[in-house]
Amino acid sequence: MNNTDNTNEFETKKQLDIINELKERYDVEYKKSGTRKTYHIETFGCQMNSRDSEKISGILKQIGYDETDTEDADFVLYNTCTVRENANNRVYGRLGYVGRLKKMRPGMLVAICGCMMQETTAVEKIKGSYPFVDIIFGTHNIFKIAELIKTRLDNEVNSGKHSDKMVIDLWKDTDMIVESLPNDRKYPFKAGVNIIFGCNNFCSYCIVPYVRGRERSRNLEDIIDEIKLLANDGVKEIMLLGQNVNSYGKNLEPKIGFARLLQEAEKVDGIERIRFMTSHPKDLSQELIDVMGSSKKICKHLHLPLQSGSTRLLSIMNRKYTKEDYLDLVTRIKKAIPDISLTTDIIVAFPGETEEDFMDTIDVVKKVGFDSAFTFLYSKRTGTPAATMDDQIEESVAKERFDRLLKEVQVSSAKAAGRDEHTVQDVLVEEVNSQNEDLLTGRLSNNMLVHFPGDKSLIGTIIPVYLKESKGFYYIGNQVE
Ligand code: SAH
Ligand code: SF4
Ligand code: F3S
Repeated sequence: MNNTDNTNEFETKKQLDIINELKERYDVEYKKSGTRKTYHIETFGCQMNSRDSEKISGILKQIGYDETDTEDADFVLYNTCTVRENANNRVYGRLGYVGRLKKMRPGMLVAICGCMMQETTAVEKIKGSYPFVDIIFGTHNIFKIAELIKTRLDNEVNSGKHSDKMVIDLWKDTDMIVESLPNDRKYPFKAGVNIIFGCNNFCSYCIVPYVRGRERSRNLEDIIDEIKLLANDGVKEIMLLGQNVNSYGKNLEPKIGFARLLQEAEKVDGIERIRFMTSHPKDLSQELIDVMGSSKKICKHLHLPLQSGSTRLLSIMNRKYTKEDYLDLVTRIKKAIPDISLTTDIIVAFPGETEEDFMDTIDVVKKVGFDSAFTFLYSKRTGTPAATMDDQIEESVAKERFDRLLKEVQVSSAKAAGRDEHTVQDVLVEEVNSQNEDLLTGRLSNNMLVHFPGDKSLIGTIIPVYLKESKGFYYIGNQVE
């Protein structure tokens, strides 16, 4: 096993000391007032942000905050996304709301972090239009949340104007990975595990490399230790997380491939299912396909973002594969793993997209037969190469293409949906059905859901379920005794 020098034990110790100091401070306050402090986190965006929110939540709980499900709390945090324009707009809406709440709740702290905060314009807008915000930080220093809260509380005592009390801590990039801080998990039986941070791909439409920094892989040892701890805690399913998991290990010495990491993760007793997200088609190796094909634990699901079916556009998008490469990859995957479920992301109306380019995308959707696809209207992100390209597509054309693509995707999903009808499949039981209390909801290896009658004591276990009827996006089933 190898060690890189980017994990920072000094920083872990420093943060743990601050967490303890705050905990003592809050314990004293609690003894006086009799009421415990509450926190609420609103998370926008992808699994990376959800995982970050779990880490922040772990620290807040350790300090002595209790979680609550509304923004009527002592500490409110927005963990933001900026991948498309509408993600930003939703955050401004929430800030307007919390500003009114804060007027009625003196002492409340409002913090904002995440990808949007890595953009200077967004931070300037918040400073100007939402001056009541107390703490602003980014994607690279979430481990510092306790220190930032402490600084803000100290400023309360030392400063006069609110604008002087505001704490802003933004890092442009980092090579630091801080391990072993408190942690909170949304589910007891399944967990996300970061394996690589950042992205080096610079797809020409995408803001992620600018807001998440360069690729940094965690040490294999640290990842496997975390998975072992999770297994000891009863976790059955792990999801390995990264913007491009196939780049895992490239910056480690010696280099380790993603396929090797998967093999090591498979050896951990107690872990029964392994998922991962996301794979870039250009880096998905035959070795990985073979490992997946022969594995009992790796789930039969691959999310393989296509973005466009046009080789011409893929090149301008800087995706580094052609339409034919993608189709060939899919053929090889299906050959090695016949029951694989394929899902994808597609962008409509990238600058310069012609009807011919668009029809190439439709063609790939038809040929691959995706189980489902996230379809996005191209959104201009300032600072990316695509934002200044000529030929931005007119809204009416974009919308019309978007609708046509959606119909094609629906046809494809409908065909894929009933594939496992009348078979028995292993299902991880996740929760009581939100619509009908007598039903449980579970997930198949290929990520499809099934609803079936059962007792809630089954939650967190993997059981065989007969898939009686396909309802499109889910099945109705029966537990096999
Ligand atoms: N790292 C992942 C995706 C991260 S962003 C990957 O490479 O697959 C999730 C999805 O958002 C992308 O796959 C893309 O389809 C979409 N997306 C990214 N930037 C976008 C933009 N400017 N406009 C519209 N969709 C975008
Ligand atoms: Fe964005 Fe491309 Fe990186 Fe994915 S691989 S995060 S789409 S730049
Ligand atoms: Fe959004 Fe940041 Fe994820 S921009 S999609 S939350 S990496």
